Parts: sequence; C-alpha cells; structure tokens
Amino acid sequence: MLFILLLVEIVSIGVAYPRICNTMNQPDSAYIFSYATSKNNNRNGLHFAWSLDRKNWHPIGPEYSYLRCDYGRWGAEKRMISPFLILAPDGLWHCVWSVNERDGVLAHATSSDLVHWRRQSYPIVIKDKNCLEPEISYDDQAKLFKINWLSVSADKDTLIYSSATKDFKSFAPTTPSLLTRNFNKRVCAIVSGMPEEGTIHKTSWETIDCLIKKSKLAAYENILKGENTKEDPERFAALKGVNASITIDATKSKPISDMLIGAFFEDINYAADGGLYAELIQNRDFEYALSDKEGQDPRWNSYYAWSLIGNGASFVVDTINPIHPNNPHYAILDIQKVGAGLVNTGFDGIAIKSGEGYNFSIFARMLSGKKGSLRVRLIGKKGEHYGEALIKSVSSTWKKYKATIIAKEDISDARLEIIPLSVGRIALDMISLFPKKTFHNRQNGLRADLAQAIADIHPRFVRFPGGCVAHGDGIGNIYRWKNTVGALESRKPQRNLWGYHQTVGLGYFEYFQFCEDIGATALPVIAAGVPCQNSATGGAGQQGGIPMCDMDSYVQDILDLIEYANGDKSTKWGKLRAQSGHPKPFNLKYIGIGNEDLITDIFEERFTLIFNTIKEKHPEITVIGTVGPTYEGTDYDEGWAIATKLKVPMVDEHYYQSPGWFIHNQDYYDKYDRSKSKVYLGEYAAHLPGRPNNLETALAEALYLTAVERNGDVVSMASYAPLLAKEKHTQWNPDLIYFNNTEVKPTVGYYVQQMYGCNAGNEYLSNQVVLSNNDESVRLRVGVSVVRDEKSSDIIIKLVNMLPVKVSTQLNLEGSASLMQSMAKRTVLTAESPSDKLVTPVSDSCDINNKIQLSPYSFTIIRLNTKKQ
Ligand code: AHR
Repeated sequence: MLFILLLVEIVSIGVAYPRICNTMNQPDSAYIFSYATSKNNNRNGLHFAWSLDRKNWHPIGPEYSYLRCDYGRWGAEKRMISPFLILAPDGLWHCVWSVNERDGVLAHATSSDLVHWRRQSYPIVIKDKNCLEPEISYDDQAKLFKINWLSVSADKDTLIYSSATKDFKSFAPTTPSLLTRNFNKRVCAIVSGMPEEGTIHKTSWETIDCLIKKSKLAAYENILKGENTKEDPERFAALKGVNASITIDATKSKPISDMLIGAFFEDINYAADGGLYAELIQNRDFEYALSDKEGQDPRWNSYYAWSLIGNGASFVVDTINPIHPNNPHYAILDIQKVGAGLVNTGFDGIAIKSGEGYNFSIFARMLSGKKGSLRVRLIGKKGEHYGEALIKSVSSTWKKYKATIIAKEDISDARLEIIPLSVGRIALDMISLFPKKTFHNRQNGLRADLAQAIADIHPRFVRFPGGCVAHGDGIGNIYRWKNTVGALESRKPQRNLWGYHQTVGLGYFEYFQFCEDIGATALPVIAAGVPCQNSATGGAGQQGGIPMCDMDSYVQDILDLIEYANGDKSTKWGKLRAQSGHPKPFNLKYIGIGNEDLITDIFEERFTLIFNTIKEKHPEITVIGTVGPTYEGTDYDEGWAIATKLKVPMVDEHYYQSPGWFIHNQDYYDKYDRSKSKVYLGEYAAHLPGRPNNLETALAEALYLTAVERNGDVVSMASYAPLLAKEKHTQWNPDLIYFNNTEVKPTVGYYVQQMYGCNAGNEYLSNQVVLSNNDESVRLRVGVSVVRDEKSSDIIIKLVNMLPVKVSTQLNLEGSASLMQSMAKRTVLTAESPSDKLVTPVSDSCDINNKIQLSPYSFTIIRLNTKKQ
C-alpha cells in the first residue's frame, strides 16, 4: 500500500510539472554547486546541489548522476575525479575532469542545460604525466579556453601545467605554468553533512528546476523498472480475473518487416571453440597464451590441455620452424621409450558416441629417427580404449595426415592420445578431431545439435561474430575477417576479450555457410575503426581508433569482404571463397559497422569514411550503424544524430533491461519518426537480479515483442543476446541456450524466440483490445499482436498475459471472417510460477469462436489458416 501511495505521489509530481514550473514564489536564480564524490572509487559521476545563500546546500537527487565518465576499462576505470564546470560565452556548460591518477588525459564534455550532455572527449594534454584537478576559464580577449592542471610526478613533486584551446580538439603546446599552487578555484561546500569540492555558479531557477525534475523522473522510472512479479500478489490482490475482447480488422493492415526475428551469435561463454565449432581438441594449435586471460591463469599457455602419458618422453613447445607464421607454436615430442606420448583432454573431456566416426588430422614432421608411425587413440580416464587409428610414415617435412576413428562406446569425457611408435623427436601441430556428423555434414563444421537448436528458432538472419568480440579489446584485438578464412593452419588465432582463446576455426567462411544452411541472411559486424570503449589495452586515449593513415587499408578490407562474399570466381577474394568450396556468391546484403561504440569524434570520423565508401562502391549493401549500449543517453543521441545526418539506412540498438522496463516501454517505437533510419534491435534481454532466464524474463520479452511486431514498419530486425553459453564457462547471464558437451538446454526465453520465429508475418493487422479492467498496471501486462503471413495465408495472434490471473479472451474477427475456419492451432508457454525455468511450449487446437483462456503468466499463439477450403 505504501508503495502504491508513493507511486501515486510521484506520478502526481510528474502530472503537476507544468503547474510547479509556473509557481510565482520561486526565485529567478540560485546557486548551483557541481561536484563528484569519491565513493565507489570516483565512479559516481557529476552531481549537483543548489542553494539560495551559498551556505545551505540542497543535494539534487543525491544519487543521480547527470554525467558519467566513460573512459577506460569496465570496473577498474570509468572514474570522474575533480570535475570543473564553467558556463562559457558560447552558451554551453563545459565540464572537464581527470580520469585517473595515471594518464595525462583531460576529459571534456558540454551541455546546454546541464541535463543532456554531448559526446565526451579525452585528449592527451601531457605525455608521460598525469592530469589532476584540471581547471578551465574562458579568455574573452584571446577567444580561447585556458587550462591548468596539476601533474604529480613519481617522487611526489607537484607542478602546474597550462595549455589553451579554442575547441578542445587542438591544444596550444603544454607549458609549466607560472601560477602558484593556489590557482585552485574549487570551493568546499557541505552537502548532506559531507564536505565536497566543486565549483559554484549562479544560474536561473529554471535550470535548477529542470535538474530537480530530471532526478525525480529518473527515480520514478527506477520504481517502474524495479517492478517484478514478486510484488504481484500485493499489486493484484483485488484482481480476480480479466475479460478481454479483441477485435481484429483484417481489412486494415500495414506491411511489416519479414526479417524480424534473427539470432546474434557471439563467441562469448565458449560459444565457438568448445561450443558451436565442432572441434573436440582444445588448444589444437598450441597457441594459447597467458595474455588470453590477462595473466589470471598461469596454466593458460601453449601447454594447456596437453600432458604426457607413459614414461620415457618429454615435450616442449617451439616456434623455430612453424607450419605457418600465423600459427607459430608447435609441440616437439621427444620419445625415448615407445609407449609414451601426448594426451589432450578436450574441452572438459571429449564426448563420443558409439559407432560414430571421428575425423582425426595432424601436421607432423620427424625431427630425428626413422620415418615413424603414430597410434591415435580415444581413451578413458583409466586408460580404457574406445577407438583408434594409425598414421603411417611420418616424413621429415611438415605434412598433414588424416585418419578416421570409430568410437566403441558412448563416453562423455574421453581423451585423445597420440603415441609415436618409434623413438626420436617429432614435431606436431594442428592436432584435430571432428565428429563426422557435423551440421549438414560440413568439413570443419558445427556441432549438429547446437546448430540445429539455432536453426529451430527459424532466424531470418544471423549477426556475427560479436558484440564486443567484433570491435575487440584495443586496436590490435579488432576482429579482422581476413585472419579467419583460408586453410586452418594459416588463420590467425587471437585472444578473445571475454578471457579465453579464439582459434577462428569458426571463421567468416563457416559463418556464411551456416547462414546459408539455415536459410538465414548473414549480418557480419565490423568494427568502425575503433575498439571496444571498455578496452583494457591501448593505453591512454579512449578508443584511440585506427590511425587515419591506416584507415584506407582498413576500409579496403571491408570492400574485400563484400567481394569475398559476393564476387565471382574471377575476383581475387571471390576466388578464395570458391577455393574454400563455395563457388556461388553468399549473397551478402547487410553489414553492421560498429558495436554500441562510445560516440566520439574519433568514432564519427572513421564511421563516416567507412559508411560513405560502402555507400559509394556498394549501394546494394545496407549498412547498419550503431547508437550506443542503451536506449537513451549521450551515445544514443549522438549515434542517432550521425545516422540522421548521413542517412544511414538502419541503426543497431542495444538494451538489457529489467522486466519492469520492458513492461513500461511498450510504446518505445510507437514514438519513432518513420522518416529516419530503420532499427535493428541487435541486442536485448530482460534481466532480473541474479540474472535467471525464467518465465518472468521470457514473458517480459514476449510482451515487448508484441510491441516490436506492431512497430515492424520501423523495426526491421531483432535478436536476443547472448545466444549460447557453455556450462561452467559462462561470462554472461542470462543466455538463450545453455549446453555442455552432450546436452543442449534451451531456456524459456529460447522458446519465446522460437515461437516468434516460427510464427512471423509480413503484415500487421489492426486490432482493438478492450479489457474488463482498464487499470494501467493491468493493461500493460496484456500484450496482443496480430500478423498475417502471406506465404501461408495464416493470421497469427500472439497473446501475452503477464498477470497472475486468467484472461478470458473473446476474439472477434472482421474482414476475413468469411474465409476462416474456426479451428486454429494453439501453442502455449506457461508454468506454475514466473520463476520457473524448465518450461516448454505445448500445442493443441482450439475453436476461436469460443472464449480462449489465457493462463496466468502465459504466452499463447493462435494460428488460423485463412485459405478457402
Ligand atoms: O551480448 C553480450 C555483450 O553485450 C556484447 O558483446 C556487447 O555488444 C554488449 O555489451
């Protein structure tokens, strides 16, 4: 009850907003104090307090940050230290701050109203020193900003430095300042009993009032976001059931995207190596490196997953004469006594199935001793044998050898043993074992059950190879497609920014082929010439960006990708594709440029170059831009501004939000300007505390998707994220499909995607929903979407009930009633409790002339065939 009263109170604040604005007894102006606290290692951003007398300070939404620093690594950085604010004659508030105690970086952003902040920049103003307590002032005569800051050296000597700038893009040479230590214009104010350092300005009451309103609105939105089903017994205590009347007018419709539901594959949570990529040998190329895991696991090196078996052998990793420079490490096995050899433990063991064939391959070279043979065996933990093969006559130059092993039993954790049958030294590399039965029986293929689970969603497109993996951790880690095609031994493995290793055995060719195999459109994402804004590597200067002098060659790589996908055999890159076994083009239509990047000048310059070049050279390709990591804020605004300016055909939006957010933002796209870029909702998921994937999160997604379908004229595509997660190797929850070596475990959220994927349409039909209870809390928890699929002539009605009570539904069909059978196929996803995780859809048939009961917490799809019988 208290909660409801609070809500009513806050809502009425919102409603009363214009009246408050017009109150006559408020001051024209007041003082504003801007500051950042040191709490949470200075990660709380910019706060404000106001005062009428410069003595008594009133914090504004004390927990609310108006501007947060986006410099550096997640967790460790993103700090705003000693912000300094001025109002310049250009009418803009300029804020500068220091980002850490290490880098000579001056962070800068502007705002016209203190509420909305433009893009941040982090110019380096001093090399090899830090930039602390920066201050700026405007010199009206010189028409430039003067900057001062402290640099504290390792021996604690403090010096003041100065520079000047007109635009915070180029700077006058940095010089030691003549100012004394008391240059500091910061003041101390007591806010909520705590002394804080900051700057004071006199400003209009209107400005302060807007800040107050913004913090109150944010607090109110947080209450809505926090709504979850645990409160439902109280929230809906009086609700006994709801009647719904849904009138569908099939004569009124609008075209919607026929590509709405897709999949987003990223190599996160061991989704590729050890996951979808069917290779069973871990560290097959001996390329694991300590740096893959940022030094957190001393065992993570070239020897990982490998060990010696038997007595009388030693094993080292060498780099002197590799098969290919991109793959420099290989093993040298020195056999003193026959019977000893090498063992690989696979990814948590090797799962094999009785009677099935496994393709073994190896690069080998005798370094001493006579031409030898290798015995290759699948063994159990106690040395039991489950199948073997023989490789004969290994020569003294690198050569690839192949054999097939037939498994004798079903074992979930076998190992692979390689035993040379003569004494001597032998070099080994690219030691590989694949099930013969891969998805669509492809060589170097995909794990059949996992690939099938993705195919079963019936995705119209697949976005790959990431997410953060696509733009990488620092410039050197950007995912480069050319490193991932061609012979496996020539591909360039690299660190995965999620803290493991990418063999890139699952590379661009395999991604394209997978898309083709499942009838999905390929949607590769290429970095916009900048790495992930949360990068750890790359030094000072957020998102340094590929130097402009190297950008032409970077852009050429993207043009080459288009040629690789679509060029004929006579072209350089088309020929490579043909040689890999795909003479026909892959028919690439879309390319994503950028992944939820921080929108900076560095980003804009590079994105613009890439976008304009693709547009000019390949107008047939739809480029998808990027608008930041969430549904609002600076990157969203700035990203949209760039997209609008350049007329980018589509932008990629991302938001991971609570079920409450999804419930309360179903009108998000209803408000979108249809004349601007289309939307690809590339990453979304409902997140609850503890990050489960349960009926509640799944229904929040299903509910929101009814609104996405309704807006299918502006939202062209959508994909849940992330897709795959290997048990015990998960960096991110929730995911859509969990798996281990033998099982695939689709989640409730998976079934929502599948139900949408298998029940898509290309026309949205007008519908009116009338509920017996019209409270907003009730209305927002009943979602309806009606589409028609012209291929099957089916009308598909999606009904989401996120209430704890039944919704008794009467369907009234107008316009197409005469064509219609009354019997329809019904599929329902529901369970006892919203916290249930093991839920699968159940199908039956129903007569739509009768009332349809939507169970509490359920998602129902009714599919009606409208063909004349
Ligand atoms: O989906 C997981 C990650 O979320 C993606 O890599 C990134 O784009 C987003 O931050």
